[in-house]
Amino acid sequence: MPGISDVMFPKVRMRRLRQDRIRNLVAETRLSTSDLICPIFVDETIVEPVEIESMPGQYRFPLDSASDEAKEIEDLGIPAVILFGIPETKDEVGTSAYDDSGVIQQAIRKIRSETSDLILITDLCLCEYTTHGHCGIVDYDAKTVLNDPTLPILGKVAVSHASAGADIVAPSGMMDGMVRAIRTALDIDGFTETPIMSYAAKYCSCFYGPFRDAADSGYAFGDRSGYQMDPANSDEAMREVELDISEGADIVMVKPAMPYLDILYRIKTAYGLPTAAYQVSGEYAMIKAASDMGWLDYEQATLESLLSIRRAGADMILTYFAKDAARMLHGLAEAGRSMRE
Ligand code: PBG
Repeated sequence: MPGISDVMFPKVRMRRLRQDRIRNLVAETRLSTSDLICPIFVDETIVEPVEIESMPGQYRFPLDSASDEAKEIEDLGIPAVILFGIPETKDEVGTSAYDDSGVIQQAIRKIRSETSDLILITDLCLCEYTTHGHCGIVDYDAKTVLNDPTLPILGKVAVSHASAGADIVAPSGMMDGMVRAIRTALDIDGFTETPIMSYAAKYCSCFYGPFRDAADSGYAFGDRSGYQMDPANSDEAMREVELDISEGADIVMVKPAMPYLDILYRIKTAYGLPTAAYQVSGEYAMIKAASDMGWLDYEQATLESLLSIRRAGADMILTYFAKDAARMLHGLAEAGRSMRE
């Protein structure tokens, strides 16, 4: 029996709502398959899928099997993919990035004809298409990437992706004015309805390491600190996003995700725009490697990382876990624990 003092001064019990089933009812954040965007690497130089060494379980696909992969993604209920291309030929200025029969342009057409509603987003950058591996035109003497001469090329790439049938273009090169240049180029060519998902706050991060293996986009000299953001800065991310919005971005992205949840939170809170987060290759590699070693539970680590990114403010998450997470979420739904779906 409770004593009179317990009745007069009820104890605070935060734990009441943490009981099984009830905790799901009061969950503030949901993670759903419909929040996920799955990257696909399409490689013109291979004939069989090749596993990416630093990203176990992830592959580069030749054109033919890229569409099978896209179908599988669609069948899992994932609404969108983001396409990265590895071209047959590279040059100083990334010409193959806007070739009408380039790897991405072909991939878009093929995937489009073999899927029904899948949203096709294209990563729009030059680094996979240039011999030096930088995201823009290079001045070798000054050892620098030239901003303004790069912009018209990005415009051409955007138009070429949209002509091939891309639903959304996602510029990731961190050139100043790139969103305006791309919006203008798209509008002039009649692609007024093609949204831009801008990699607005993209940090100069070591967590992209495995991606550079995946996309064969390591660089010939220097690094990307001359155009990607300094991890020390947060106010600067707000300016980046503000500029991109003023230039016509429809969706803004923060990248990487987990080390930058504070940035994500600030951006979503301040601007309220559809906000994406990119859980990058290194984030995948960490969880995957630790799970493969038996040091982390793969399913729990994956879902917790994604839920945390949602909680910080992401409306959508680009993640290499997309397929596995979709399967996990289906499994939870079947087990009657559907509140995560
Ligand atoms: C291209 C690009 C990169 C990533 C996405 N688009 C690499 C980079 O900027 O070096 C990284 C994605 C990942 O690490 O998963 N600019």
